[in-house]
Amino acid sequence: MTTPSQPQAAPLPTPVRPHKRVRVAIIGVGNCASSLVQGVQFYQNASETESVPGLMHVNLGGYHVRDIEFSAAFDIDREKVGKDLSEAIFTAPNNTITFAHVRPLGVPVHRGMTHDGLGKYLSQKIKKAPGPTDDIVSILKETRTDVVVSYLPVGSEMATKWYVEQVLEAGCGFVNCIPVFIASQPYWQGRFMERGLPLIGDDIKSQAGATIIHRALVNLFRERGVLLDRTYQLNFGGNTDFLNMLERERLDSKKISKTNAVTSQFGQPLPSDDVHVGPSDFVPWLQDRKWCYIHVEGTAFGGVPLKCELKLEVWDSPNSAGVVIDAVRCIKLALDRGLSGALTGPAAYFMKSPPQQYSDHDARELTEAFIHEDDAVARRINVTLQTRSRGTSLGQ
Ligand SMILES: NC(=O)c1ccc[n+]([C@@H]2O[C@H](COP(=O)([O-])OP(=O)(O)OC[C@H]3O[C@@H](n4cnc5c(N)ncnc54)[C@H](O)[C@@H]3O)[C@@H](O)[C@H]2O)c1
Repeated sequence: MTTPSQPQAAPLPTPVRPHKRVRVAIIGVGNCASSLVQGVQFYQNASETESVPGLMHVNLGGYHVRDIEFSAAFDIDREKVGKDLSEAIFTAPNNTITFAHVRPLGVPVHRGMTHDGLGKYLSQKIKKAPGPTDDIVSILKETRTDVVVSYLPVGSEMATKWYVEQVLEAGCGFVNCIPVFIASQPYWQGRFMERGLPLIGDDIKSQAGATIIHRALVNLFRERGVLLDRTYQLNFGGNTDFLNMLERERLDSKKISKTNAVTSQFGQPLPSDDVHVGPSDFVPWLQDRKWCYIHVEGTAFGGVPLKCELKLEVWDSPNSAGVVIDAVRCIKLALDRGLSGALTGPAAYFMKSPPQQYSDHDARELTEAFIHEDDAVARRINVTLQTRSRGTSLGQ
């Protein structure tokens, strides 16, 4: 006997949602760019209920990882300029781990502006592409780029400022992964506010890198009442980032950024001679692996000395790629919401030198609150918001 069919509920109309994309342009197609592009490919089909290592969320504020599209890329290396981004990321001297096959993206690497991008050591490895600088502003506009990510070499002060002017003129958001101080500076915050554009910077803080581990250790000492006496963090690796950092003159801002990221967590300041944090050497056979030694000494109960040694071995570039995937989606959310200026909470969580330092716990909470538009957390943690709505910033 057949049962009579149940009356069917009328199907709900499929909501019409604009196809939302995050269009990302990259400056500097080195190892970090390689890991970012590979990572977006790798997590194309990640389930939204899955927990993905290194990402806050598969779906962040409505944007899945696969909603990130690469719109443009800029470099000055003659081996990379003119190639498709999918090919350029696997071109030497890039030497990071390959964890995803990247299909051709239809995104050519354009000729950027060299300025001070190539220092003493990089210029021995990298030969400049012939021809003039491409029209960056027009390319960013024509490709409808939402967010520009800077992966320039350490010490690229002039080049960074030059590119930032192009980003401002083209009307894009900006993620500054390098230790040239932009998002942390009132001048540049103001420039982005005037243009009604958001930015996150400076100097990307990796998922589980030397900085966050060192911060966690000194916070642990503080919270457990161990008086911190002295500490060091020595880093070395075999990628072009470490090669470039052999040139000590290019290192000033990197050292400031890495050192402040740790000292900002101290309960009480230490004499500068008792704190050493910095890139230390270049060991070619490590390739894109980085080894880091952290040493922390303190005084515990009864005035008794206590020492802690830690060694970290990590692939350097993939370690920061997930953080950038989250950062570009936060910038896109800010663009959607009409926010401009430095995004205080996300910058504190994603970057070593944000406009304002918080503990990593508070910074994460602030970032979650930003994503979910929950002002109560920001009020509780007492954030000085540097962001304002585009309507206000434009004086409307
Ligand atoms: N986990 C990490 O790897 C990490 C963490 C924090 C900060 N950073 C910073 O990110 C930046 C990029 O790191 P990377 O490992 O990809 O470096 P990389 O040396 O592999 O790549 C730099 C790229 O920039 C290109 N370049 C140089 N001058 C240029 C110019 N004027 N215009 C356009 N392109 C130019 C180079 O040709 C190269 O392709 C570095 O400043 C590094 O310190 C990386």
